[in-house]
Amino acid sequence: MDARIIQLPKILDSRGNLSFVENLNQIPFAICRTYWLYDVPGGECRGGHAYRKNEEFVIALSGSFDVVLDDGRQKQTYSLNRSYYGLYIPAGVWREMENFSTNSLALEFGSVPFDELDYVRDYEEFVRLKSHGEI
Ligand code: TYD
Repeated sequence: MDARIIQLPKILDSRGNLSFVENLNQIPFAICRTYWLYDVPGGECRGGHAYRKNEEFVIALSGSFDVVLDDGRQKQTYSLNRSYYGLYIPAGVWREMENFSTNSLALEFGSVPFDELDYVRDYEEFVRLKSHGEI
């Protein structure tokens, strides 16, 4: 799986720290879209889908949560809990997000505009597409 944690620049300052992302520098794609998840009630899960084309970079700007990735062969769980690193998720990976802490804030960057047709929301279909190399 090409998914990986990417450390971000950290400008340490007694007035407060600063981190940033730039297209194609810290992350391997040009950012097309930004969205965020907030007010996630305790015990809720998000995700539960794969993207055909969309690549993503996810940061826990505040609080913590887990991202479970599944490439059709193996699952890996990444715990995000700092604002100075994030998780790069290539296209074609099934992902679930869980264990959101109170007041957590997930910032997500995507490589393509929102398009429902880019989603695979059925896990059996995901496995089938994966086994045929179609995603
Ligand atoms: P979804 O991607 O399924 O949420 P998550 O993976 O975080 O659980 O999106 C939930 C709803 O929001 C769905 O109806 C599509 C809509 N949506 C947009 O309209 N634009 C966007 O950029 C995103 C990410 C979702």
